[in-house]
Amino acid sequence: MELVKVQAMFYPLMLLLVGLSNVINIYIGGIEVMKGNITAGNIAEFIVYLNLLTFPVIALGWVTSLVQRAAASQKRINEFLHQKPEIISPNVAKQTIKGHIAFNNVSFIYPDTGIQALKNISFAINPGEMVAIIGRTGSGKSTIANLIMRMYDCTGGDLLIDGQSLKSFNLEGYRSQVGFVPQEVFLFSDTIANNIAFSADTLDMPRVEQAARDAAVYANIMELEKGFETLIGERGITLSGGQKQRVSIARAIVKQPQVLIFDDCLSAVDTRTEEEILNNLGRNMLGKTSIIIAHRISTIKNADKILVMDNGEIIEQGHHQYLMDKKGVYFDLYEKQLLEEEENA
Ligand SMILES: Nc1ncnc2c1ncn2[C@@H]1O[C@H](COP(=O)(O)OP(=O)(O)O)[C@@H](O)[C@H]1O
Ligand SMILES: [Mg+2]
Repeated sequence: MELVKVQAMFYPLMLLLVGLSNVINIYIGGIEVMKGNITAGNIAEFIVYLNLLTFPVIALGWVTSLVQRAAASQKRINEFLHQKPEIISPNVAKQTIKGHIAFNNVSFIYPDTGIQALKNISFAINPGEMVAIIGRTGSGKSTIANLIMRMYDCTGGDLLIDGQSLKSFNLEGYRSQVGFVPQEVFLFSDTIANNIAFSADTLDMPRVEQAARDAAVYANIMELEKGFETLIGERGITLSGGQKQRVSIARAIVKQPQVLIFDDCLSAVDTRTEEEILNNLGRNMLGKTSIIIAHRISTIKNADKILVMDNGEIIEQGHHQYLMDKKGVYFDLYEKQLLEEEENA
């Protein structure tokens, strides 16, 4: 807006001054000619001088506007360049993690909205365990995943990995060992193979294919004319919601992570495919840690531990049979889903 103001002022003003000086030139010159002090030729001479001066003045205005424009752009670029990341990786060597995760009285408030998403959460996961998280929308499930990925630092309590604060790990080294399938799938406008191998340095086709098989999307990809070389996204084809989710799963498992987090990424997949993926997962994640966030109880029945979340708190936890015997919230949810299934059948 400042730039526009300067421009709006500058050009009319310049034209006005040029015009005005011509008028003054002729007027005063005319009087002088009539007095006989100068000749008419002198006026013509001065008009030529004036017009010779016009271009440098215009150039001056042009340069001023360029400088103004550059200043405005630089200001915006600086805003971006001066952003400081809130998550800072300590200057330590990368280390291999075993996959023990512990939440000790963790609370979390989203800094931008002030919403308290987690209240005094405590639980522990041992390497080799599969833990499931279930609960209503907005109960804080994705927030747990975000904290484990260290997208944010918890605002209260401790998050320990292998008994050590998550903040003390080399961030890049840590994240490279955690496979995360986010709730919102994000695929690039690139080939399917590159999308799956995204986290790896090199494109290792046998591994990519195996990951696609484990994610139960191999057959779908092979049906496409160009297979793994098919372009997706803006310049290519559009995959269905379930296919996108499974490509995203393949991306997470291709790096054979120590810890795997599925954030509601089986919602658009039918129950039979889901079962296939979970079976493959059990094989691949043997001795490693997996966290499955889901809506359907059928997805998580076989988990070693189930956390039932509500409004930022864990209201029940234990394995399936224990929670069923307890006849609490989990039991009600199970009954309701069973009923819905029967209605749909
Ligand atoms: N990026 C965010 N910024 C601010 N508030 C958020 C953000 N993500 C989630 N929330 C809020 O935190 C609460 C928990 O959300 P979330 O963990 O996404 O729940 P769930 O995954 O169980 O549906 C909700 O009230 C939600 O509005
Ligand atoms: Mg969520």
